[in-house]
Amino acid sequence: MIPRFNATAFSGLTTEMHKAFTTNGVLVLDELVSHQDCDRLRLHMNTMMQSFDASEHSTVFSTKSEAHAQDDYFLSSGHQTRFFFEEEAFDNNGQLTRPLPEAINKVGHAMHDTDDIFAGFARQPAFKTIATELGLVDPRLAQSMYIFKQPEIGGEVGCHQDATFIRTEPNSCLGFWVALEDATEENGCLWGIPGGHLGDQPKSLFIREGTQTRTEVLDDTPYEEDKCVPLLAPKGTVLVFGGLLPHMSRANRSSKSRHAYTLHVIDGAAHYPENNWLQRPASMPFGRF
Ligand code: FE2
Repeated sequence: MIPRFNATAFSGLTTEMHKAFTTNGVLVLDELVSHQDCDRLRLHMNTMMQSFDASEHSTVFSTKSEAHAQDDYFLSSGHQTRFFFEEEAFDNNGQLTRPLPEAINKVGHAMHDTDDIFAGFARQPAFKTIATELGLVDPRLAQSMYIFKQPEIGGEVGCHQDATFIRTEPNSCLGFWVALEDATEENGCLWGIPGGHLGDQPKSLFIREGTQTRTEVLDDTPYEEDKCVPLLAPKGTVLVFGGLLPHMSRANRSSKSRHAYTLHVIDGAAHYPENNWLQRPASMPFGRF
């Protein structure tokens, strides 16, 4: 069983927290974020969506055959705020079947730099303390995502390791997964394999080659998904896990959304390969806390 810690008055990682992170690969910090802050982020995202004009990007989203446009839109999102849709939000003719706020899968990947509210939230002292105490010498904010896991159509995310997508040499990727609403088994909470984080590299690499991407498999043994346990996260809980923890989430077929904000931090002291999918212009390097 994965231990949980109440982090209402968090002032640093305890020995038990360190041990839980090292043993399981994930640390569950209940109430690290206030409900007020969760609500503030949700409201703000709602406002951001009002200014997004889906028709402007209709070629990107209208059909699955527009793979190239989709790739461009995705590959250039490393320093911007971009909107990605749930696959099931479209009918056979490529038309949205529901209002925009109920159709978006996620927003990413740089609102921690492009938006004042998200910038302030992502830079809260507790996250810096945790990153530093878990060994990052020069913590840098690499990417963040607002994930909606929409009611009924929230897509599943297969088992993966974040270091596949956010790779440094040596591995230093650290994720903060913030429950902005209760995440339960019914609405598609995260699942993880306790202790599955041991090793020194991910099973596969997601590689950018010009305007294309490909996956390079380093280890083709399947994830031991039968060992996955639900990482239940009531509103305000933060799951902290390294880039090698295998994790997944099931589809949300319930009537409740499951909003979450994720932040990925890397060590500026590690090498960030040029063939990582997420790249930034030289004028906008990964920032510090
Ligand atoms: Fe992930």
